[in-house]
Amino acid sequence: MDLFWRKSVDQLRADAAASNLKRVLGPLQLTTLGIGAIIGAGIFVLTGQAAAVHAGPAIILSFVLAGVACGFAGLCYAEFASMIPVAGSAYTYAYATMGELLAWIIGWDLILEYSLGASTVAVGWSGYVTSFLRDLGFNFPMQWASPMGLDITDAAGNVIGQGIFNIPAVVIALLVTALLVIGIKESASANATIVLIKVAVVLLFIAFGAAYVNPENWRPFIPEATGVKGEFGFGGIVTGASVVFFAYIGFDAVSVAAQEAKNPQKDMPTGILMSLLICTVLYIIMAAVMTGIVPYPQLNDPAPVAVAINATGLNWLRPFIKIGAIAGLSSVILVMVMAQPRIFYSMSRDGLLPPVFKTIHPKFRTPHITTIVTGVAVALVAGIFNINELGHMVSIGTLLAFAIVCIGVLVLRYKQPNLDRPFRTPGMPFVPILGALACVYLMIALPGITWLRLLIWLVIGLAIYFLYGGRAAAAARAAGLTTAPPDIVDKH
Ligand code: ALA
Repeated sequence: MDLFWRKSVDQLRADAAASNLKRVLGPLQLTTLGIGAIIGAGIFVLTGQAAAVHAGPAIILSFVLAGVACGFAGLCYAEFASMIPVAGSAYTYAYATMGELLAWIIGWDLILEYSLGASTVAVGWSGYVTSFLRDLGFNFPMQWASPMGLDITDAAGNVIGQGIFNIPAVVIALLVTALLVIGIKESASANATIVLIKVAVVLLFIAFGAAYVNPENWRPFIPEATGVKGEFGFGGIVTGASVVFFAYIGFDAVSVAAQEAKNPQKDMPTGILMSLLICTVLYIIMAAVMTGIVPYPQLNDPAPVAVAINATGLNWLRPFIKIGAIAGLSSVILVMVMAQPRIFYSMSRDGLLPPVFKTIHPKFRTPHITTIVTGVAVALVAGIFNINELGHMVSIGTLLAFAIVCIGVLVLRYKQPNLDRPFRTPGMPFVPILGALACVYLMIALPGITWLRLLIWLVIGLAIYFLYGGRAAAAARAAGLTTAPPDIVDKH
């Protein structure tokens, strides 16, 4: 076992050159890909709870704070993505800079981002679908659309039952899995259509909702702290930021497409930073309109955007918003369930996971086994847990990965200063340091129970590494088995 064994950047570049993926994506498609992965349950679902329970109208500031943290991390991702244009994202970058153990920790941690992220968005999907079905006159039994033990309340807030299992969330997760196993051709144009719908829905909401904003709802802008950690006041803004951080996750998915970019050196940074910038602006305005239309306590709902629309009385807008949200959430689940097997694939290629993780279906040319394993796990988790707990776990795991990426950029600048860097993170060394600090700061604002869960997750991961992964990777290297170029056929 060699905890600090590193892949050389040259080896990574050779891997990339040997891949048979088609280079078809330009800057516009990459930006669109990013927006497709970013806009989802964060803005459509978690914003409501973050405003109602943590920040009040100051959720607007939470979005600014989380956006700044992501901006720093995004600049670091951009340097890596332009320098090492290999699919595999943060895991690959860590392998090249900080060695095997940290690469493993990141790979293990990314399961929280992608698999648990998909479960989170599936629960959000369930909330909008049941709400839409209600509008059509079909009352889906809520105990079968809620996690076990969750109190179900009526419009007046009275408890009318308890959740058992979230069936719609399970159904969408399995449906997406089936599509991915067969090898859906999620062409750039299909993605662009969904992104257009999503952005149109956000713009429609802003344009029509703005007229119904009552500035009284923004007062007090920062509700007084209750004394409980993360409930209003300044602490509430920070906790709100760590919750809505979820809304920004996805810009890093652009880096997963590095091998399909026409001109990755130039276009990866553009795709990452433009998609982040566009979403930040949209989010801040949308949060302002949402909290301006209804008093923030009312936003604690599985479909908070629908709550705001209901308050305006613009009934014709309701179906558009809900269908748009449902389509948008579906595409995020798709991207996340697609990304997870690719990371498993890279880890298996490096010998850290068993060879079965890089099995490709002979006919469909998809990583069917890992896709099915991922999909079934995503579905089960989505059926059992509530969206807030899931969202917190995804945020803490992803923040940790981002912090390590920021530090990685810095490490590589000092260790290998002469590498060709088509995009250089500006403001060295401050931007990566501030990025890492901002991520850790947001992590600290998350509840203690989330930290405990992260710790347990990491302990399990380390146990697997020391009992299996580390040795297997060293053995595979000794046998010359780890340098095979990726033979996965990319279908998206
Ligand atoms: N940013 C993505 C979302 O909000 C994960 O759904």
